[in-house]
Amino acid sequence: MTTIGFIGAGQIGGTLARLAVAHGYDVIVSNSRGPATLTDLVSELGDRARAATPAEAAAGADLVVVTIPVKAVPSVPVAELAGKLVIDTNNYYPQRDGQIAVLDEGATTVSGYLQQHLPTSSVVKAFNNIYYGDLGSLGVPAGSPDRLALSVAGDDPDARQAVIGLIDELGFDAVDVGPLAESWRFEKDHPAYGLKADLAGMTNALAQA
Ligand SMILES: NC(=O)c1ccc[n+]([C@@H]2O[C@H](COP(=O)([O-])OP(=O)(O)OC[C@H]3O[C@@H](n4cnc5c(N)ncnc54)[C@H](OP(=O)(O)O)[C@@H]3O)[C@@H](O)[C@H]2O)c1
Repeated sequence: MTTIGFIGAGQIGGTLARLAVAHGYDVIVSNSRGPATLTDLVSELGDRARAATPAEAAAGADLVVVTIPVKAVPSVPVAELAGKLVIDTNNYYPQRDGQIAVLDEGATTVSGYLQQHLPTSSVVKAFNNIYYGDLGSLGVPAGSPDRLALSVAGDDPDARQAVIGLIDELGFDAVDVGPLAESWRFEKDHPAYGLKADLAGMTNALAQA
């Protein structure tokens, strides 16, 4: 059984944890304030869920979702994530995150910034360009008409395929955008950001970027 760890258990982390449990995964949730603050979420999620510290969630999971404000990236545990697939949902909002020079200068992408912090992990950007309410409510089985498509980028093609498979299980199609260097195509201020579209519409928006 695959266990998914969550570093961050807010709007996106909580929503993804609910979806993961509903699809048969075990989850370990964590936040900055400690496991005691996650009792309500764990009660709601049931027997498949437990709360932990970020380091424990990272160490105990097969794959880990980092879903926090970008300003918190430097605090993400490194050793516990070595060799693991890490899904990055993060978006950069300077009014929330403060100014981060490498992002302001365009020296890397938002997910490239996390990948630099986690050099021995395989970072895949996903779930960043959908509103959490839509993520929680608009998933449908594969083959359903007008199924929404998300976007996926990462430097390891096998890791991208694994995340595309997970997204499919959770109710969405996905466009493979390629390496992290291309992930700006679905960052904030681009047509694919927050776009509710099917595979063809999302593919078109990514190409327009
Ligand atoms: N909301 C959306 O619709 C949406 C959609 C796509 C992507 N995103 C992006 O996804 C990320 C998460 O968004 P969100 O809306 O879920 O945020 P949120 O509701 O504010 O939740 C943030 C979570 O991160 C945790 N956190 C903060 N600092 C931490 C640290 N140093 N270590 C561990 N956990 C930490 C918070 O825990 P505490 O409360 O204990 O600090 C909280 O559980 C952001 O980058 C956001 O831009 C959001």
